[in-house]
Amino acid sequence: MSIAFRPMQTDDLAQVHAIECAAYPFPWSVGNFADCLTSGYLCEVLLEDDTIQGYSVVASMVDEAHVLNCCVAPEAQGRGLGRQMMHHLMMGLPDMLGSGHGPLTSLLLEVRPSNAAAIHLYTDLGFCEIGRRRDYYPTADGREEAVVMRYPA
Ligand SMILES: CC(C)(COP(=O)(O)OP(=O)(O)OC[C@H]1O[C@@H](n2cnc3c(N)ncnc32)[C@H](O)[C@@H]1OP(=O)(O)O)[C@@H](O)C(=O)NCCC(=O)NCCS
Repeated sequence: MSIAFRPMQTDDLAQVHAIECAAYPFPWSVGNFADCLTSGYLCEVLLEDDTIQGYSVVASMVDEAHVLNCCVAPEAQGRGLGRQMMHHLMMGLPDMLGSGHGPLTSLLLEVRPSNAAAIHLYTDLGFCEIGRRRDYYPTADGREEAVVMRYPA
C-alpha cells in the first residue's frame, strides 16, 4: 500500500463528501468543503494507492492553526491512517502554510467527548485538553459539548 497526501481539489468533493457522510452522523455539506477551498484553508486528501481514504481541513490565523476536520473512511479506519494524517499535519504545517505565514505556536482542535478513538489518537500525539465548549455539536436529542485540545500542551 502506498500512502500520499496532496491538496484537495474541487473534483475531489464528491468523494470527500461521500466519506464525510459515511463517517459522521452530522456531516458537513459539499458547500462547507467548497467554502473551505475558496477561503484558502489548507485542505488535503490522503491517498492510499491513489484512492482517497481521508482528508483534513485546517484554518490558520496568525500563529495558530485550527484543525476543522480530520477524517478517515470508515472501511479504512483502524489501520494507522488517521495517525499518519495527523502526524503529516503536525510535522508539515509550517512548510504547507508557506514562508508568508509566521511561525506556528499551536495547533487546536475540537472533538466530541464521546469520540474515544479520536481522543486516544490526539492524546497519544501530544495534544492536551485546554477547555470545553458547551453545546457545540448537534446530537440526536440535543447538543453535546466539545473538548478543546491543543498541541503543544
Ligand atoms: C478519528 C479517526 C480520524 C482516526 O483514524 P484511524 O485511521 O481510524 O486511526 P488509527 O488507525 O491511526 O488509530 C489511531 C489510534 O486510535 C485507536 N483507536 C481506534 N479506535 C478506537 C476506539 N474505539 N477507542 C479507543 N481507541 C481507538 C487506535 O487503537 C490507535 O491507537 P494505537 O495506535 O495506540 O493503537 C477516524 O476514526 C475517523 O475518521 N473517525 C470519524 C471522523 C472523526 O471522528 N474525526 C475526528 C473529529 S475530531
